Amino acid sequence: MTAQFPLVPTDHPTPPQTREEILADPGFGRHFTDHMATAVWSPDAGWHDQRVGALEPFTMHPGAAVLHYAQEILEGLKAFRHADGSVWLFRPELNARRFAASARRMVLPELDEETFVESVAALVRADEAWVPPYGGEQSLYLRPFMFASEAFLGVRPAQQVTYCVLACPAGSYFPNGVTGVTLWVSTTYSRASIGGTGAAKCGGNYAASLAPQREALGHGCEQVLYLGGEGRRSIDESGTMNVFFVTRDHQLLTPGLGTILDGVTRDSVLTLAAEHGLEPVQRTIDLDEMRDGFADGSMTEAFAAGTAAVITPIIGLKSDDFALTIGDGAPGKYTQQFRERLLDIQSGRAADTHGWMRRVL
Ligand SMILES: Cc1ncc(COP(=O)(O)O)c(C=O)c1O
Repeated sequence: MTAQFPLVPTDHPTPPQTREEILADPGFGRHFTDHMATAVWSPDAGWHDQRVGALEPFTMHPGAAVLHYAQEILEGLKAFRHADGSVWLFRPELNARRFAASARRMVLPELDEETFVESVAALVRADEAWVPPYGGEQSLYLRPFMFASEAFLGVRPAQQVTYCVLACPAGSYFPNGVTGVTLWVSTTYSRASIGGTGAAKCGGNYAASLAPQREALGHGCEQVLYLGGEGRRSIDESGTMNVFFVTRDHQLLTPGLGTILDGVTRDSVLTLAAEHGLEPVQRTIDLDEMRDGFADGSMTEAFAAGTAAVITPIIGLKSDDFALTIGDGAPGKYTQQFRERLLDIQSGRAADTHGWMRRVL
């Protein structure tokens, strides 16, 4: 049965004027709304104590297992305001399923799909005033996460787990997200290996990405493009985005699932490909194939896809032994089309022909 998250309103809401100032330039992940949704789990009681209450710090024992062994998972999705004032989530059931898959990998308790969606919807309803207005590219970013809150030292699954959803008004993830990013192809670091946690959305994956990310920034690149597979010669994904390549003969290539995150945006782009006259192909893409493809013109565009960054053009790649500009260094035609199409569906400007939007308010 779907659990409800009753609202216990905060007694210290953000003054409306401060909130409006934040909404005028929210950035990404800098400001939090007034409430959070929470629930706790133990083996005897299962999930209980569901509520939406004031955003406040957790009181946690310093021995809480998450602080030592990183038994933690997270999700990211967005709520969009439409022109008529209504508020909608984009494919939240896919985030719910991926959250459950991540929970299985990290031996955390699963939350059923409807309860996950209800927790997110209840928080959006409580903090509706924080959903940015229709018309810009802003949205309310939602961050469900779950962690081992039991105090113990020793490597075993926690017997007490906390679930929480936070919300942040969000603008652009990359300052130059529309004009394009250059990715650093790291030969020092990898993100995942077969049998590892690459397909799970767990905090540890992102902690491990900080060193390669620093390496990328040091080379003037915004993000990392990770290599994987046999001998680390094939394209995996970027730090927070899946990657796509458009070929001259109208294929839309993306690495197959396995060690990468099964992105909601990735799945949506693959579904939309046919509408844009492209054949979606999921397969191993060799680094050399990609380099040769951009050199001889058989590959024409590259872009990255993710909830936070939407569709971000990849306009260049750099590594220890090569640097290349993709196309003429400007966002490609298909890249722009996918970006507009997705944003149009999410903001209600285009008909939701795939049934992807879930109304919250
Ligand atoms: C490693 C990684 N790959 C890909 C994605 C894109 O996934 P989605 O489209 O579901 O946001 C994300 C973002 O969550 C990510 O962190």
